[in-house]
Amino acid sequence: MTASNLSAQLYLDTNRTIGEISPLLFGGFAEHMGRSIYEGIYDPQSPHADERGLRRDVLAALRELDIKIIRYPGGNFLSGYRWLDGVGPRAKRPIRRDLAWHSIETNQFGTDEFMEFCHALGTLPMLAVNLGTGTIEGASNLVEYCNGTPGSYYADLRIANGHPAPHGVEYWCLGNEMDGPWQIGHLDMEEYGRKAREAAKVMKYQDPSIKLVLCGSSSTSMPTYPEWDRVALETCWEQVDYLSLHYYAGNHDGDTASYLAQASQFESHIDTLAGTLRYVKSKQRSQHDVYLSWDEWNVWYKNQEMDGRWTQAPHLIEEVYNLEDALVVAQWLNVFLRKCDVLKIACLAQIVNVIAPILTTTDCLVKQTIFYPFMLMSKFARGQSLAVATKAPLVSTRQFGEMPALDVSASHDPATGQSAVFVVNHSQTETLSTDIIWQSEAPRQITGVYQIAGTDVKAANTFEHPNTIVPRQLVGGRMDGNKLSLQLPPLSFTVVGAS
Ligand code: AHR
Repeated sequence: MTASNLSAQLYLDTNRTIGEISPLLFGGFAEHMGRSIYEGIYDPQSPHADERGLRRDVLAALRELDIKIIRYPGGNFLSGYRWLDGVGPRAKRPIRRDLAWHSIETNQFGTDEFMEFCHALGTLPMLAVNLGTGTIEGASNLVEYCNGTPGSYYADLRIANGHPAPHGVEYWCLGNEMDGPWQIGHLDMEEYGRKAREAAKVMKYQDPSIKLVLCGSSSTSMPTYPEWDRVALETCWEQVDYLSLHYYAGNHDGDTASYLAQASQFESHIDTLAGTLRYVKSKQRSQHDVYLSWDEWNVWYKNQEMDGRWTQAPHLIEEVYNLEDALVVAQWLNVFLRKCDVLKIACLAQIVNVIAPILTTTDCLVKQTIFYPFMLMSKFARGQSLAVATKAPLVSTRQFGEMPALDVSASHDPATGQSAVFVVNHSQTETLSTDIIWQSEAPRQITGVYQIAGTDVKAANTFEHPNTIVPRQLVGGRMDGNKLSLQLPPLSFTVVGAS
């Protein structure tokens, strides 16, 4: 690593907190799309399959990511899905056309198998109810099926299907991207608000302890954004607990400097919706709070193959990720920490094969570049998020103007005394001599410094070369009084663990 003339300073104070970091910020999303479920999670033909058909190697990789919650079963697939097709004896389950992705759905994996998968991973399920072709009755029945106790039809059906204990699903999404004209059963904002409110009512009659996520806008580029969010919230405020937001980032114009400054776009997206939440709460004179759930986020722009041509488990949107994508994902996670006062759930879309950190063949698995920032942050970010004062040289970008070269977040867990600092240097040319300065009590020791870095923004991990972009542990990180000095190379993501 070369020493640099350019310097930066990061000031931390464990009393200067933003809020508690919700563990659910490290969530994922698994949709019946392409090879996400079939050949990804569930693959009885694979040599890695366990007795349930679940891929052991995929489970092991997902455990490394320490995913805390998984949203299922869609996505656009959800809006034509009949959940009853996917429960009961496998031989009796119907094969259907999935109209969202023009694919053939065998229903060999359904709600109960998803629960087993979550159980095997130690993660929470987040189920979505179909508000496209689905009815409020279907939504209510699914809550009864999952959470009901013996003595009523759908709870007894679950028991007859071999699951005596309730699944106890706490988090539920009220449809998917209902603002999108592409969505099966798309509604306008008033219609959706009313349908979501009525679904919410009966679902909470079934189980008052559940938490509900209202569909917000599917992207900031929608013509109805953020009016959709305001109207849907005003119709359902007291019935729901979260508002969803979705966004997929991409280097569409080949403008890497702007692409690497995307954190600014992610922040303003949250700021707009946080303002909308405050406005509606105040207009309704409510004591109730609604938080944000970013339940689809990722980089997605290269692979646009979305037509399954009426086949089973087609190869759809199997995006290959590179170094610049990993640095964007790291910044997204930094933004989650910086906005953790209002953002409580986030689901990386998706987890296997379909725009995912993991790609599989029948007998192999590769961890893509974006796997590693997620793994490092879900492992190290604990407790309180700290407001870091950052002084760094500026980088010029076409889209966002001058942006500090460093994008930073930090955490401190008062219960364990563990701290962590997460720093992206998105300058493409400059190494920055960076001092991390603790203004309150400094940690006694640095427990580890991990870095993802490279010189080629397009470098990717492949089945042939799976370790092109992986984190390396740096040696020599030592505190000097209240200060740690590091050389941060261009195009790098560095994680400092301290205690
Ligand atoms: O994650 C892929 C698709 O992107 C989802 O099905 C949909 O909700 C979004 O548009």
